[in-house]
Amino acid sequence: MSRPLPSVFDQALASAVRAPSPHNTQPWRFVAEHEAIEVWLDRERVLSVADPHGREARLACGAAAFNLQICLRTNGFATVVRLVPDPAEPDLVAVIRLDGNQKATAAERKLAEAVFRRHTNRRPLLDRQVPPVVRAALKSAALHEGGQLEYLDASGRYTPVASLVRQAESLQSADHAFRAEAAFWTHRDPDSPDGVAKIASGPPPQGSGVVSLRASHENEELPAREYEQEPLLGLLLTRDKGPHAEVRAGMAMQRVLLAATAEGLATSFLSQPFETPRTRESLDRLFAGAGQPHTLLRIGYGYPARLTARRPVHEVLTHRVPSR
Ligand SMILES: Cc1cc2nc3c(=O)[nH]c(=O)nc-3n(C[C@H](O)[C@H](O)[C@H](O)COP(=O)(O)O)c2cc1C
Repeated sequence: MSRPLPSVFDQALASAVRAPSPHNTQPWRFVAEHEAIEVWLDRERVLSVADPHGREARLACGAAAFNLQICLRTNGFATVVRLVPDPAEPDLVAVIRLDGNQKATAAERKLAEAVFRRHTNRRPLLDRQVPPVVRAALKSAALHEGGQLEYLDASGRYTPVASLVRQAESLQSADHAFRAEAAFWTHRDPDSPDGVAKIASGPPPQGSGVVSLRASHENEELPAREYEQEPLLGLLLTRDKGPHAEVRAGMAMQRVLLAATAEGLATSFLSQPFETPRTRESLDRLFAGAGQPHTLLRIGYGYPARLTARRPVHEVLTHRVPSR
């Protein structure tokens, strides 16, 4: 195998930190070795109110692991990804190891190109349907990583899920601790290296749609706008549950988001029902038998929004020198 140049690892880590994370907390750190990169959960950056068990943070780490892998692949390396359910090291979530040389496929190159364009779009979407062939491509993206993307319109579960989103949003807006945590991480300056910048927020909604985006992600300085009435909602599930499944789900989520970006789609998240125990249990019950729900995506066509900043790679990276 040809040796990875230091610049290949630099590129892969620059890709990794472009992953999405709740409130742009970037709850990860990386350890680079000779031919491997480890992804660790950074407990200090887990949202203690919205995500006390680190579930969403593990999704984010899975997304970072996927970006690492796809970048190494497009640099001509085969990779082995080990998701680590190691009770002795519960915060080590994944190890991506180089495994010889292999030419990347056109599909992999398309996904890698989307890494630096993908962003969360909280603006209103156009009332334009996502064609069946594109919907199928996103479903295959999830399957490819061991996940499952269920579109809610076909399942008859749209109305109950939309109602859980509204219910959780209302519970969270009335909860002081939730509001304080969201306020800390949002409405940041555009160059803030973490948190959600005001420029990435959407305009306040005019009237009420079927689903509600987070009130904490609205920019009150913009004029109110009408949002689409019934966006396409995709729920990402895995067969299993627990920390390992959450990292796997994060990888599948990222492949779906990149495939969507490559297809010219806008995406955003509706995580409220996962963050309040009562709505989370209802969601689990609603999908009992189908799998473990992890995240809910709003998918459609829109006008591009702004990219948010990240902490520089050197702040999240350590090098391990092999012992002789
Ligand atoms: C697990 C997870 C849950 C998220 N939940 C929400 C959400 O409920 N509402 C929202 O507007 N954004 C949500 N986001 C998006 C993040 O706020 C976003 O990824 C982060 O601010 C970085 O911005 P970017 O995605 O544009 O790069 C979520 C992201 C992840 C990974």
